[in-house]
Amino acid sequence: MKPELAIKPIVFILLLVPALYYFYAVYLALNGENILGPDPAQALSLATGEWSIRILVAALAITPLRYLLNMPQLWNYRRMVGLFGLFYVCLHLIVFLMFLLQWQWADIGREIVERPYITIGFAAFILLLPLGLTSFKAAQRKMGRNWKKLHRLVYAINILAVLHILWVVRSSYFDAVLYGSLVSICLGYRILRKYNPVVRKFVLLK
Ligand code: HEM
Repeated sequence: MKPELAIKPIVFILLLVPALYYFYAVYLALNGENILGPDPAQALSLATGEWSIRILVAALAITPLRYLLNMPQLWNYRRMVGLFGLFYVCLHLIVFLMFLLQWQWADIGREIVERPYITIGFAAFILLLPLGLTSFKAAQRKMGRNWKKLHRLVYAINILAVLHILWVVRSSYFDAVLYGSLVSICLGYRILRKYNPVVRKFVLLK
């Protein structure tokens, strides 16, 4: 059996665990027990946002790591990790609509127009949708070269996500700086690799 066939389900479960924990926390809250702290809605919004960016950055890092570590098998995880990124962004959006806006549909348009960080987050979410919908092998085959072009949107999505976090920040810039740096390193590496043969040949593991 190929090792990735054994590792893939483990990665799948690891990526699912945070969501399961927060589903459980919501279930407890609905039954009168709060494990989310003094402001459960905000805690859920922050947690789902954090997991969204962690997983989106992990998906972005797969290609540089595949080249630097000389591990082509890492490519097999791209689709799963990317789809989990979309999944957590969807949860983050649902938390916003459900707990922060209480499904006040009239307010949603106003929030998107009036709050720049919501506009940017929403733009990242909209751009993620076509990537999720075309992430399957059949779509990849059908779209040919256009598939690659469309999936370059991941760069814009990650940049928008970092701007969103930078704009939300109220106290610490730690997250914005951390994820901003990771996204810059991944994008910088891609650009250097494209134009510089030395970078293209450089590997950390033989
Ligand atoms: C790629 C998409 C997105 C990512 C990666 C993301 C990530 C994050 C992160 C990490 C935070 C916490 C920032 C901090 O440290 O304070 C956050 C906060 C927030 N996000 Fe997003 N977000 C995304 C899209 C959205 C969308 C689509 C909405 C709603 C339309 C949204 C609404 C919010 C709100 C309201 C907060 C503030 C929560 C609070 O402080 O109460 N985000 N987001």
